[in-house]
Amino acid sequence: MSGEAAALAISGLTSGYGEAIVVRGINVTVAPGEIVALLGKNGMGKSTLLKTVMGFLPAREGKVLLHGGDVTKFPPHRIARQAIAYTPQEQAIFQDLSVGDNLSIGQPEAKWFDEELERVGEVFPFLKERLSQRAGTLSGGEQKMLLIARALMARPKLMLVDEITEGLQPSIIERLAKALLAERGRTGVAMLLVEQNVRFALEVADRWAVVKLGEIDDEGSSDTKNAAERIANHLSV
Ligand SMILES: Nc1ncnc2c1ncn2[C@@H]1O[C@H](COP(=O)(O)OP(=O)(O)OP(=O)(O)O)[C@@H](O)[C@H]1O
Ligand SMILES: [Mg+2]
Repeated sequence: MSGEAAALAISGLTSGYGEAIVVRGINVTVAPGEIVALLGKNGMGKSTLLKTVMGFLPAREGKVLLHGGDVTKFPPHRIARQAIAYTPQEQAIFQDLSVGDNLSIGQPEAKWFDEELERVGEVFPFLKERLSQRAGTLSGGEQKMLLIARALMARPKLMLVDEITEGLQPSIIERLAKALLAERGRTGVAMLLVEQNVRFALEVADRWAVVKLGEIDDEGSSDTKNAAERIANHLSV
């Protein structure tokens, strides 16, 4: 390969649970600074794909390269050290810790904390006002915002984000779209977004792909004229 290595290169990836194969030979590449959205109906294997990339599930076939390095057989804690931030679909905040502790936990550089908090505080002002509140007492949408704030604060080179807009009101989704684009502009972070919200996906992502029964069924660039209709068709049938 010439030039800079892809932030993420997934090739021929197959994985699943026990006897069940859920991800079937998927290829996805995310260039440095690129944002790619994966869409698809419920149960098609989108979250399973991200879990396999993160090493929580073994790849049965295929490869995962992060920034050019093969991490296919790495355990999750080694993958987590590759400047990658993963926000899972299921809530993954520490319910009993404060908002502030949730934000500072796992940050690679403690010295960044104040500066980064200032920045994400502009996107999600409530976080700064509630640093000492127990995170489990935040609303569902606020917990989602806390998750994405924590991911942004770690200064990752690649973010894997699983259905972050689920359950958020339109004004917050719009703020999130602006925040992710601003972050990409500022740091050049690459992103793989799993989404059901087509409008958000097309606003934020450069390219999209539809996952159906564990395979990529259709893909294109976000500025294709009929992208929204094409995706909506896949999601409705
Ligand atoms: N831990 C598990 N054990 C067994 N099967 C599982 C497990 N997790 C997911 N599955 C199955 O794998 C398939 C794909 O699930 P996955 O969560 O990857 O779908 P998804 O595309 O993320 O769907 P959604 O949009 O609803 O989040 C589903 O049939 C699901 O029931
Ligand atoms: Mg999912």
